[in-house]
Amino acid sequence: MSSNDIPQAQHAWIVIKRGHPSQAVVLQKDFPVSSKLKKGEALVKVHAAALNPVGWKIMRLLPNIIAKRPQIAEYDLAGTIADSNGTEFNKGDEIFGWLPVPLSIKSGQGALAQYVRLPADHLVAKPSSIDFIHAAGICLAGMTALQGLKQAGIEAGQTVFINGGTTAVGSFAIQIAKAKGCNVVATTSTPNIDIVKGLGADKVIDYKNNPPISHLKENPPTPNFHVIYDTVGTSAELFTASPAYLAPNGIFVSVGVTMGGLGNILKSVFQTQLRPSWLGGTNRKFRLVSVNNKKEDLEELRDLIGEGKLKPLVDSTFSFDDVLKAYERIMTGRAKGKVAVQVISN
Ligand SMILES: NC(=O)c1ccc[n+]([C@@H]2O[C@H](COP(=O)([O-])OP(=O)(O)OC[C@H]3O[C@@H](n4cnc5c(N)ncnc54)[C@H](OP(=O)(O)O)[C@@H]3O)[C@@H](O)[C@H]2O)c1
Repeated sequence: MSSNDIPQAQHAWIVIKRGHPSQAVVLQKDFPVSSKLKKGEALVKVHAAALNPVGWKIMRLLPNIIAKRPQIAEYDLAGTIADSNGTEFNKGDEIFGWLPVPLSIKSGQGALAQYVRLPADHLVAKPSSIDFIHAAGICLAGMTALQGLKQAGIEAGQTVFINGGTTAVGSFAIQIAKAKGCNVVATTSTPNIDIVKGLGADKVIDYKNNPPISHLKENPPTPNFHVIYDTVGTSAELFTASPAYLAPNGIFVSVGVTMGGLGNILKSVFQTQLRPSWLGGTNRKFRLVSVNNKKEDLEELRDLIGEGKLKPLVDSTFSFDDVLKAYERIMTGRAKGKVAVQVISN
């Protein structure tokens, strides 16, 4: 132990190679704590972390040379400041924060460890109304929700259609759109209808009984949606059919295109972004969301939570030893909100 109680080695889940998490991620019990801080960085003692689909997708897709392995897994965390290093925080402050993927690759740091070094402008104070588990999963999905809605320019009184009411991103987007005074229509499957209503959706479409595209074509909303936010990103068709239910000056934002093969991806990209309307393309605005760190957005999420307008939806919590089970859960594609990991007991 050093004089300020920060150990030199820690337990951390390390991505050692490309592949399925069961082969790619291992628990190391003597991984060095990165305690040499650059100006503007703080060291956080992690209490809880949360998984995101991008974690296992990168594990499966990116070769070691690009992902710069070995590196600590995952991006979202909550904890206490272990070394404030002259930043705005004090030792012991309770925070939540994140490492965007490029920062994690560059620094080798990640959330599934006992200590993480990261820039202080990627952290904000944790509201006392939520615990570390609920705080751990806010940043990546919450920022994606907020930044997507900002990119769409939502205004009070508009109607927003959120495809995927219980995706982590969708669960934040419903609540943020409601907090900004919008009407919200969201999709979900039958067992999750009450959850989505509880998040604030004014109307819920059960996507298994009423496939959204045909349902909306047959029952067009009045007025047409001002904004569509696709937080599932499974197909381009929701966009290409959108003139039937998205206002002419409306906007379609999406978290991405399907993982179902390169052919599908290229087709989706062509249909959503490249094909002009005079070539039969869709005569509506389309934007892909790419989440970035912005301190003011982190602060906005913190304030919404502090005001009780935003409550992180947690699907399940796993112990630090059970991280591989947490990956199994998120990889089902059925998690309702965030899959969290308890790193140390509160
Ligand atoms: N572009 C970016 O910067 C960015 C940032 C963050 C995330 N993403 C991407 O956004 C997507 C969502 O991420 P996430 O963490 O929010 O996902 P997630 O929480 O893992 O999504 C799981 C949820 O999706 C719902 N779902 C699955 N298919 C559905 C469908 N056809 N219609 C409605 N709901 C459906 C499931 O509910 P049911 O069981 O009811 O089906 C389940 O609750 C991922 O592909 C992720 O990679 C992109």
